[in-house]
Amino acid sequence: MSRHHEEPEWEAVGHLTDFEEDRPERCEVGEVAVMVVRTSEGKVHALFDTCSHAEVPLSEGEIVDGEIECWLHGSTFNLTTGKPSCLPAVDPVPVYPTKIEGDVIYVATNVEL
Ligand code: FES
Repeated sequence: MSRHHEEPEWEAVGHLTDFEEDRPERCEVGEVAVMVVRTSEGKVHALFDTCSHAEVPLSEGEIVDGEIECWLHGSTFNLTTGKPSCLPAVDPVPVYPTKIEGDVIYVATNVEL
């Protein structure tokens, strides 16, 4: 399902300093629970905060080699594409656009990347 034609509706999720490097946080953006992480490379990513394999929050996992690792069965997901790199998960998780203005992080969940 593509919703690329829609304009992002940005919502502030916090300041850059609220997010420790490589420490995923669960943020409620509108009705959507989103995992937001600021990486040690200085990028900010936002993914749907539910593993595509079973319904556990990805934000309770850890960043391993630049990917989010689901704590339950160990699948890792690319932070940019949402695609799993290893089993048991086979489906991607939705990835949302982010932007930084000043030191505030914004996420839009009405659009998927
Ligand atoms: S619930 Fe995430 S890999 Fe199984």
